[in-house]
Amino acid sequence: MIKKIYFATTNQNKFREAEKIFSFHGLKLEHLKLKTIEIQSESLEEIALNSLNQVLSKCRLPVFVEDSGLFIKALNGFPGPYSSYVFKTVGFEGILRLMKGVKDRNAYFLSVVAFGSPNHKPKIFVGRVYGRIALKAKGLNGFGFDPIFQPGNLKKTFGEMEVKEKNRYSHRAKAIKKLVGWLKKGKYFNSKL
Ligand code: IMP
Repeated sequence: MIKKIYFATTNQNKFREAEKIFSFHGLKLEHLKLKTIEIQSESLEEIALNSLNQVLSKCRLPVFVEDSGLFIKALNGFPGPYSSYVFKTVGFEGILRLMKGVKDRNAYFLSVVAFGSPNHKPKIFVGRVYGRIALKAKGLNGFGFDPIFQPGNLKKTFGEMEVKEKNRYSHRAKAIKKLVGWLKKGKYFNSKL
């Protein structure tokens, strides 16, 4: 039976979000600070599976990785799978510039979680949150595009939320809750830590 699950990510914020969900379910999550090379692909699933394989080739552990992207309707889904590169190059300010004067602010975040272990074939969990691109950046919490994304019909951005509140809506929280449900159903965890 698997007792420990590892989240391979160099993003401390992503880990904190996932850890909160695991601990709410009485489960312990370990942080594996392992850097993988992100391949360029139009499919988040392909990117996540590739990075899971890189991790599993380095360590024989029950582990998951997560890849996400911001898809903006008025920009035909851009930056989507290229979100990480776009954030690194032009940041959320670049997105706000592209969206200047654009009335349709609809967008969604997509998260793909890929879990695997030396004894299990990869399993994928997907989470999505619809929302809107704010007119200006708001809030100092979180990371990435958090200050410009308003989930659902809320006026508040992810950047104005604590982790607990963001986890109520976020793409990543939805995918990770599915993973936790699956792990518990399969009795992968001891109920005792
Ligand atoms: P990654 O490739 O999964 O690390 O994420 C792609 C990019 O999308 C990151 O560089 C972030 O800028 C952005 N991103 C992913 N998830 C979130 C989120 O929950 N909030 C804000 N930005 C995010």
